[in-house]
Amino acid sequence: MAFSSSLFFLLAVFTIEVLSNYDDLQVKDLSPDLQRQLQYMLDDPFRDQIKTNCTTPTSPEVKYLLYTRTTPNLPIIIDPTNPHQISARTKFVMVVPGWLQSPSSKKIVHLKDEYIKRYDLNLVIVDWSQAAFNLYNLTFCDMPFVGQSIADFICTLADQRNLHPGVIHAIGHSLGAQVLGLTAEYLRGKCAMEIGRITGLDISGILFEKLPDSQRLDKSDAELVDIIHSDTLRGFGFWLNIGDVDFHPNCGHDQPGCPYVKKLEPDTMVSDIFCSSDRSVEYLAESVNDNNLIGKSCGICPRSCQTDIINEVYAYMGEECRDNPKPAKRFIVPTNEKSPYGRGWGPFPVVHNSTKCVDEIGSPCLRSCKIN
Ligand SMILES: *[C@@H]1O[C@H](CO)[C@@H](O)[C@H](O)[C@H]1NC(C)=O
Ligand SMILES: *[C@@H]1O[C@H](CO)[C@@H](O)[C@H](O)[C@H]1NC(C)=O
Ligand SMILES: *[C@@H]1O[C@H](CO)[C@@H](O)[C@H](O)[C@H]1NC(C)=O
Repeated sequence: MAFSSSLFFLLAVFTIEVLSNYDDLQVKDLSPDLQRQLQYMLDDPFRDQIKTNCTTPTSPEVKYLLYTRTTPNLPIIIDPTNPHQISARTKFVMVVPGWLQSPSSKKIVHLKDEYIKRYDLNLVIVDWSQAAFNLYNLTFCDMPFVGQSIADFICTLADQRNLHPGVIHAIGHSLGAQVLGLTAEYLRGKCAMEIGRITGLDISGILFEKLPDSQRLDKSDAELVDIIHSDTLRGFGFWLNIGDVDFHPNCGHDQPGCPYVKKLEPDTMVSDIFCSSDRSVEYLAESVNDNNLIGKSCGICPRSCQTDIINEVYAYMGEECRDNPKPAKRFIVPTNEKSPYGRGWGPFPVVHNSTKCVDEIGSPCLRSCKIN
C-alpha cells in the first residue's frame, strides 16, 4: 500500500517534470488536441483553425527564479511582493521562456549559463510553465494575467529596490516575447515607466499578426526593442519588422542545420518541430561570449533577402546590439549550421575569444564596442 502510493507520487512528480517543456518529448507524448493544433500550425491553409475565445479571466501560477554567480544552478524563488534578494547595483536580465517551455528547457538554461559566465548579474527566469505548457489558444488567454504579474513585479523592484526599469534587459522567446509586449503596456499604466531593452526571440506570429500594437510586442515597448526572427514564412514566428532593430538570420526562416518538419509522425521529436524557432535563443546565447553574428543592412527585407549595395551598414546581432548605429534598422545575418553559429561578415571577420575593450559595467566586450 505504502509502496504503491509512493510509486504513484513518484510518477506524478515525474509527469509534472516532463510536461513542463518539450526537450525530450515525441509527438505521441502530447495530448491529441495539442498534436492536432501543431499539425494545423504547420499547414498554412489550416492555421485559421487556431481559434481563441477568452471569456473567463484566468490566474495561472507565475514564479520568479533568481540566478546569480553564487546560485548559478539552484535558483532562489523570489517573493515578487518582497524581492529583497535583488540588488539594484548589478546588471539585471529577465528571461521569459516561450510556448511549451520552462526554466528547465535546455536552451533557456544555456542562455542563463552564458550570461552568468560573462557578468556578475541578477538573472531572473519567469516560470509561467503552468500556463505556457498548454494548447496554444489557451496559453494565449493566460497571457494578460502573466504580463500584468511581471509588470507588478517590475514596479515593485522600482519601489522597494530602487531598480529603475530602464536598466532592465528583458528577453522573451515566442509567446514569452508577446507577454513582454503586454507587460510594457501595463507598466506604462501602473507606474509610468519603461523597460530599457526588450529582446524578442522568434516572437510568435499566429493569432498576433492581426492584433493592434497594444496587444503585442512592438518598438514602443522599451527604449530599445531588438528582434531576432528565426522561424517566419509559415513558421511559428512573426514575419514583419516590428522592433527598433530587426535581425533576419538566414532571411528569417528555415535555419540551416534544422530538420524540415511538415508532417507530424508519432515519433517526431517535438524539439525538431521548434528547431528554427529555438535557434534564436541559441544565437543570443552564443553572442554573449562569442560575438561573431554580424548583420548587413537590408532595405526591404524580409520581402527580399538582398542586402544593401550602397550605404551598407554592419551590426552585431545579440547581446552587443545595444551599440548599433542608427538609422539602419534591418539586417540579414548568415550563420553556420551548428555552433559556433557566427560567421562574421565584411569588415568583421570571425574573432573567437578576443577581448579588446571593457563595457560600462566593467566586463570585456570581446570586440571593439562600436561599429562606425
Ligand atoms: C482552443 O482550441 C480548441 C481546439 O484546438 C477548442 O476546442 C477550444 O474551444 C479552444 N478554446 C478557447 C478558449 O478558445
Ligand atoms: C465565446 O464564448 C462565449 C461564452 O462561452 C459565447 O457566448 C460566444 O458565442 C463565443 N464567441 C465566439 C465568437 O465563438
Ligand atoms: C575560443 O573559442 C573557440 C571557438 O568558439 C572555443 O572552442 C575555445 O574553447 C575558446 N577558447 C577559450 C580559451 O575560451
